Amino acid sequence: MRIDIITVLPELLESPLSHSIVKRARERMLADIVIHDLRPYGKGKYRQTDDYSFGGDAGMVLMIEPVYRLITELKKQRTYDQIIYTSPDGIPFSQKVANRLSCLENIIILCGHYKGIDQRIRDHLITMEISIGDYVLSGGELAAAVITDAVVRLLPGALSDETSALTDSFQDGLLAPPVFTRPADFMGWKVPGVLLSGDPSRIREWQEEKSLERTERLRPDLLEQKENG
Ligand code: ADE
Repeated sequence: MRIDIITVLPELLESPLSHSIVKRARERMLADIVIHDLRPYGKGKYRQTDDYSFGGDAGMVLMIEPVYRLITELKKQRTYDQIIYTSPDGIPFSQKVANRLSCLENIIILCGHYKGIDQRIRDHLITMEISIGDYVLSGGELAAAVITDAVVRLLPGALSDETSALTDSFQDGLLAPPVFTRPADFMGWKVPGVLLSGDPSRIREWQEEKSLERTERLRPDLLEQKENG
């Protein structure tokens, strides 16, 4: 899968996408993630990428020309399945959306800009808008990193244990069960005996029970969503 990310702050994205599972997926060529600095596509001597908004609302707005130039150049090289804009206005990001995106071949993510982007970019270039939650970030870079991380870890081969993505919280609409590691007894705080039993079917049954119990207690809305399909 190829993910092209367009931003005016490439430094903000370098580190989150250079460690752990995403790093390994990139090394294994499962994910080709290219971060594009929009600045060189900016206008004039100062490579301007934002400008005052018409109508006088305070704050700078991302200009269409640099974005159009860069997206047009990318589109000459391959066909994109989605051109995503990160914005609080977008559809709520979820495991379901991450699953769907992980099945695509090529996507672009345009990072939102603090006071917004020229509406014509959204009307004519963007095919999907995603929000990572009902709060406002200073820019779309962290949202782009969240989306990329959640998608890339789903690519076959990204996780060392192929099954572990399937037991993630949310993957089946439930929260994940609790996990423990050694020591089995820490100052009298004991690991549940069933996990030490070595009986896979009893362990699975316990995990399913805990998973359901946790979801009922912490996120009952997930169970409602599951029932309503
Ligand atoms: N940009 C600013 N806030 C955002 C949010 N909640 N989700 C996605 N992009 C954003």
